[in-house]
This record gives sequence, C-alpha cells and structure tokens, in this order.
Amino acid sequence: MTTPPVFPTNFPPNSAPDDETEWRLPPGPPHPLHRYVFKPWVRLGRPILLFEYLHKHFGNIATYRLFHTNIIFINDPEYVREILINQSSSFIKERTLKRMKILLGEGLITSDDPIHIRQRRIAAPAFHRQRIAAYGERIAASAAAQRDRWQDGQEIDIAAAMMELSLEIVARTLFDTEVTDDIRRINDDVNTIMGLYNFLVALPKLESYLHWPIPGVIRFRRSRARLNATVDRLIAEHKAEAALGGNDKGDLLSMLLTSKDEQADAEGQHTGMSDKQVRDEVLTIFLAGYETVANALTWTFYLLSQNPEIERKLHAELDAVLGTGNGGHRLPTLADHPNLRYTEQVFAESMRLYPPAWAMGRMSTKPVTLGPYRIPPGAHFFFSQYILQRSEEYFPDPLRFDPDRHTPENKAGRHKFAYFPFGGGSRQCIGESFAWMEGVFAIAALASRWSMTYLGDAPPVPQAKITLRPRDPLRMRLIARTADDARG
Ligand code: HEM
Repeated sequence: MTTPPVFPTNFPPNSAPDDETEWRLPPGPPHPLHRYVFKPWVRLGRPILLFEYLHKHFGNIATYRLFHTNIIFINDPEYVREILINQSSSFIKERTLKRMKILLGEGLITSDDPIHIRQRRIAAPAFHRQRIAAYGERIAASAAAQRDRWQDGQEIDIAAAMMELSLEIVARTLFDTEVTDDIRRINDDVNTIMGLYNFLVALPKLESYLHWPIPGVIRFRRSRARLNATVDRLIAEHKAEAALGGNDKGDLLSMLLTSKDEQADAEGQHTGMSDKQVRDEVLTIFLAGYETVANALTWTFYLLSQNPEIERKLHAELDAVLGTGNGGHRLPTLADHPNLRYTEQVFAESMRLYPPAWAMGRMSTKPVTLGPYRIPPGAHFFFSQYILQRSEEYFPDPLRFDPDRHTPENKAGRHKFAYFPFGGGSRQCIGESFAWMEGVFAIAALASRWSMTYLGDAPPVPQAKITLRPRDPLRMRLIARTADDARG
C-alpha cells in the first residue's frame, strides 16, 4: 500500500534547533515550492515530476520546502535503509497518510506503535506462508474463470479486467464469497472515498467539518456510513456461522476474528481484536491488496505485449510446468510455484518499472543523521520506488524490461533497497507473499492461454494516484495461443 501522492498541507513548523548550526539540511531549491508554481516540474497531482527534477539537480538527497515544512527527498538505498530499519524508531508514518484514519481508523497502515505492533502480531498468522497456500487455489480458480470468459480476437481494457479479477480474488480470500452486491458496494464506497481523498486531506481540520453540509463531505459521510454497515454485517454473518459450528472458513476474515495475541495483556489474557479493529483491518486489507495487485498485473501484460522475446520465454516455462496436453494448460498449484521462476521474475521486473506503491513517506520525531546531514524532528521524508528502481546506477539501461535482473545471482549483487516494491522494516507489506502468489498464479493462468496485442497509438501514461495506474483504458486484443504455439 502506497503513500498517497498529495503533499502535506497543514503541518506545524519544524522545531527550531537550540543552536541553528546544529542542523544541516541537504541542498535543494532555495524557495518554498509555491514560488515555483509556473515551473514545469511543479504540477499539482504529478509529484513524480518534482522527484525527477530533484534527483537530476541535487543528486541522491535533497530538501524542498512547502511553506514552513522541510521535506527531504531521498534517492539513495542506504538512506532508505536508515529510515526503514536502522533509525526506524525516529520515524512515524507521514501525516497525510495518517489522515487516512478517517477511512481506515486504526488499521495496520495508519496506526503507530504500540497499537500497530499488537495489531500486526494478531494479524500475522492470517498471512503466514502455510495460510497463504490455502488462498492459492482460490486465486487460480478466479484467474481460470477470467481466462475462460475471454474470446479469441476480443478487445479488452486490461486494466478494467485486472481490477475485476483482483476484486474477485479479494472477495474469495478475504470474505470467502463471490463478487456479491455487498462486495461491489464496498468497492464503490472505497473508490468514492479515495476519489475524495485529495480534497479531504486539504481541509485543515477535517474532523470539525464532518457534520457540515459541504458536498464532498456529505458524499464522504454517506459512503463511510454505508461502508461500515456493509463490513459490520459481513463480520456479524461470519461470527454467526462460526457460532453454528462453521469454524474457520479458510478466509482472511475468519482468521482475523479468531486470532489471539500471543502476548498476554496486563490481566494475563490473550485477547483478540475488537469488532471495530477487525473492521479497520478488513478495510485496510481491501484497500492495500486490491488495486496494487491489479495494477501490477496490468503493467505486466502491457510489458509482455511489447517484448515478444520475453513473452516467448515465459510461454516456454508455462508450457513446461503446466503442460500442453489435450485439456490445454492445467491450473498452477502450490507445488508448481517454485518452478515458475521466470514467471516470478517477469512479475518482479514489471514492479520495478511500474511499482504499484510508487512512493513512501515518513516523518521524523527525533533528530536524524543521514550521511553528512542532520535533520530536525518534524521533517517529512519521501522516497520513491518509481525513481530509485529506474536509476541507471542500480539498473543499467534502466528502461529495458529484463526479468533476468531478478535471478538470485543478480539480486545478490544489488543493494536490498535498490528494489523495494513492498517497503521494508517493521512496516513491510504484510501481504507480500500473498501478492507474489497472486501475481504469479494469475500470470500463469492467463498467459498460458492468451497472448495480447496492445492497441493504443502511444505508450500508456502512468498516473501516480494512490497506486501507479494507467491514466487511460489500456486496450488489448486477445490472441488465443494454439497447440502449435505451445509446441514452439
Ligand atoms: C503488488 C502488490 C502490493 C504492493 C506493491 C504492496 C506494497 C506495500 C508497501 C510498499 C507497503 C508499506 C507502506 C509503508 O511502509 O509506508 C505495504 C503495506 C501493507 N500492505 Fe501491501 N502491497 C501489495 C499487496 C498487498 C496485499 C495483497 C495485501 C493484503 C492482502 C497487502 C496489505 C498490506 C498491509 C496491511 C500493509 C500495512 C502493513 C503495516 O504497516 O504493518 N498488500 N504494502
């Protein structure tokens, strides 16, 4: 789940040092950002332009200012490691992201310690490897249903198709249901609220406006009330079924409802989550796990359509692992996963060029030292997977789509934080194994049967919203692979 692309608006000034010389900020544009509004690198809603400019002109670390707030932009894997791991106790989540609390409450993405650490402990078993394995079958079945619906020569918007597939997978793995009206309603309401997000975070004290008849706020209120009611009902239904002896249905929600903290509380009890906490986590997982994977798959199929040699290699692996007998390719199973190496590398390389979580943010709560710089508390820090993972320094010929960059040998020779689509440290994506399995199984099920030709006149334009998604529909023509294709 990514840090939204909005810039902070209403932050307290950074605390003044006792001794001005104590702080040493990285270089950057001398004036606050609003003085550059006519520059081509300052465009509302297009922060990547600014990040590219800062990287080009100031190197691997730069400071820019938004009114009184210092914002440090980092493009150095070692500094990323400092923030996410070595000095992580000096940082909290960046505040614009935390304002998502209006939607997600105290879920994993928005909470800080000590709430976060407890929630993470309780949620962890739902994401253990053994547990993820059980979701694999549901993922493959959903992808199979999608591939069977497609027709040879059909024109599709692959972005919409991958959203639909991802929604179906979320429905089956989170709630153990089909895409019912409830699921569509959750989807619509989350989309409405996220569509209003930039507007909502711009309101300085949103909480005090929540009862005002402002059109955007009314829409937010309505969507949030409906969302809470729908999720609360799904939770109540799960609990009622469990009470009737339905036990664990094998989905994420059942796990969140039954899991207990392995650490005892002050009274010596091992308690679980309250219903409100489960609701916050359900919405968090829905938001974090749905659009991210859909976009990663969309970009993967676009990149495959542009790189026939790589597509051929992928097909060769799928034919070898999943067979090409009379019934065509069988569906991937857990046992196949280790053999779908190249498929995984294709997915990894797609997320290098088009990372769904394209940037992350933190705020310092203590003085921070990065190389020669000493930065005061209250500074904001951004680093962007999109920029770093396209750096020539770590990925020669960076725009070339080359899955071999992700062989074990090549990975071993690279800094861990030159490639970090799932973040790192204590806030690393809890759904990472889930996402790899989903990506690999969906690519395997779909690409074994279908090839795609891109129908756009120009390359698709990535848009850095909550996730990195194509700005326009991404039109593809489907071409059925024949038995001859499979025989090579
Ligand atoms: C390709 C798909 C995905 C990508 C690229 C991705 C990326 C990320 C990143 C970068 C973070 C860390 C954000 C930060 O530290 O500021 C994160 C956190 C998180 N992700 Fe994912 N994610 C993906 C899929 C999923 C899935 C499938 C789920 C759940 C089923 C999920 C659930 C979460 C949760 C709950 C967090 C918050 C973890 C915490 O702070 O403890 N993500 N994700």
